[in-house]
Amino acid sequence: MIQSKKLSNGFKFVEVSNDTASVKIALQGAHIFHYQRVGEEPVLWLSDIEAFDFGKSIRGGVPICWPWFGIQENLPQHGFARTSMFALTHTDDTNPNNTHLTFTLQDSNESRKLWNYKFKLELHVEIGDTLTMRLTTTNLDEKSFTLSQALHSYFDVSHISNVEINGLENKPYLDALTWTKELQKDSITFNKEVDRVYQEVDGKITLKDKNRTLYIENEGSSSVVVWNPWIDKCKRMSAMKDDDYKKMVCIESANAFDDTIVMKPKSSHTLVATVS
Ligand code: BG6
Repeated sequence: MIQSKKLSNGFKFVEVSNDTASVKIALQGAHIFHYQRVGEEPVLWLSDIEAFDFGKSIRGGVPICWPWFGIQENLPQHGFARTSMFALTHTDDTNPNNTHLTFTLQDSNESRKLWNYKFKLELHVEIGDTLTMRLTTTNLDEKSFTLSQALHSYFDVSHISNVEINGLENKPYLDALTWTKELQKDSITFNKEVDRVYQEVDGKITLKDKNRTLYIENEGSSSVVVWNPWIDKCKRMSAMKDDDYKKMVCIESANAFDDTIVMKPKSSHTLVATVS
């Protein structure tokens, strides 16, 4: 079942439930803010003080960082897609186990003021036992553009001290806290702030928690961001309570830093992230 819903402030979202899972996706940002398999706990973390304001990214779920990842001088951090209004352009719920939705964003007067290119951006979401997100960028301009991006997934965890991430061993990373290049030796555990862009990533990533293991697989990407703000930064974050760093970890399927893409006119690129 696919339903169009609205919060009391008018914030629109689509709710899907089928025989295997349910999802909630805001039209602002094509932002998935809930995904849960039948009989299981939610997979994605969402701040319980999130106000769903227009023009402000939702804290949690899967923000789409696009057409740039991170900071750009005098421009919004992580780009403008996450605060732009997408259209729901395709739905298919003929299979009771798997529902397909497509959300589309095209350039506008507003977007061209921030980033002067013609484009089409589509998020195709497949909701089932596995959550599949396909983010396709098409350059509709006469000139090439540079693209960096991320499906910035916030995962819900029992406690950050129970978390172990595997699959990034022996991968080089940029430590965004020190701006140094490092090499990941072992699995990743957390006892301080972590903000890293892993490079040359080519396999499945495992997020091991106390009672659950999730698998994240990416295509069209060789970079993955791992982020937990820890105590001090969490206190400074918008829409996060002081203790929220204990309940979440971000594993972001990205094209960032060395994995930035140059897109020629009329070309398309698809970043795929699957969570199972
Ligand atoms: C991560 C960055 O991707 O996003 C962090 O690596 C940043 O440095 C975090 O703090 C959250 O960003 P924002 O813009 O949603 O507050």
